[in-house]
Amino acid sequence: MTGAIDLRSDTVSKPTEGMRRAIAAAEVGDDVFGDDPTVNRLEEMAASLSGKEAALFVASGTMANLVAVMTHVRPGDEILLGDQSHIFNYEVAGTARVALAQAHALSNLPDGGLDPAEVRAAIRPPNLHTPRTSLLCIENTHNRCGGAAIPVGHIDELAAIAHGEGLRVHLDGARLFNAQVALGIPAARIARECDTVSFCFSKGLGCPVGSVLCGPAGFIAEARRNRKLLGGGMRQAGILAAAAVYALENNVERLAEDHANARRLAKGLRGLGPFAPNEPETNIVVADVLEGSLEGWLRAFRDAGVLAVAFGPRRLRMVTHINIGAGDIEEALRRVERVAAASPA
Ligand SMILES: Cc1ncc(COP(=O)(O)O)c(C=O)c1O
Repeated sequence: MTGAIDLRSDTVSKPTEGMRRAIAAAEVGDDVFGDDPTVNRLEEMAASLSGKEAALFVASGTMANLVAVMTHVRPGDEILLGDQSHIFNYEVAGTARVALAQAHALSNLPDGGLDPAEVRAAIRPPNLHTPRTSLLCIENTHNRCGGAAIPVGHIDELAAIAHGEGLRVHLDGARLFNAQVALGIPAARIARECDTVSFCFSKGLGCPVGSVLCGPAGFIAEARRNRKLLGGGMRQAGILAAAAVYALENNVERLAEDHANARRLAKGLRGLGPFAPNEPETNIVVADVLEGSLEGWLRAFRDAGVLAVAFGPRRLRMVTHINIGAGDIEEALRRVERVAAASPA
């Protein structure tokens, strides 16, 4: 067996040689003084690609979302989001603990969207007793909904409802460029009706670190203060921004390969054992395990050299990324086939 085929997440990817050269050659300065030319260049590129006035480089997707929510809401406000969203499930309740916002989770539709009627009904009319509903958060692509790429018409519809009632809209676009490639629609168009959008460099784009929050210039100036409050003001961050610039120039189009690999993986899994995978639209395969224990399968996969994660009581997740080629997918399927034949679980 060669090394383990690591499909736990696209965050496990390691920088390519080209990216490492870009990092080594980065021009840097103190970004808290606004002096880092590479960070400044990255923020200009991100603003332009997302169709927003300005952008702010931050450490992670979690920080981008938290800074966005902190900057959008006043303490005691209510935010609407999906019950399967990353912000609601995996960000340590930062919206409650730091942004002092109350989260009202609405059931996500299986395709990652939200029922427009439910969104409308959840917006509270002004009343002395109630929190102000001030922000709607949407996610695209949708991680827990199997990397679903949400159609732009649905985002526009939700944003129109929110704006009509005076809410703002934040798009968690951790994998926005996967959505761009899957939908064949530019990121700026996908995010057009959203006030702010964040995206990550450290996932499908293959960088070691970094995310960006994009929005109106005044909002981003305030967000910069909130980033500082969180301890997120970085100094010679051009070392990291250089990787992100490189990724935007070199690693966007290739996401189509990750999507094709995910489709191949799901198709192969469907025929191999008691697995019911999704039809991946992007780079995330989620599969329900119909027989045996999830832990047993994950352990057997790991022993055979295929790494996946639990994604619910009977669901596993596998994610394709820049370090995984079509040959690795075939090898992963051969290994899973051997495991399934031995029926360990
Ligand atoms: C949809 C979504 N948003 C936000 C994040 C948070 O990103 P980070 O791990 O960089 O904090 C993730 C991470 O997987 C994600 O999938």
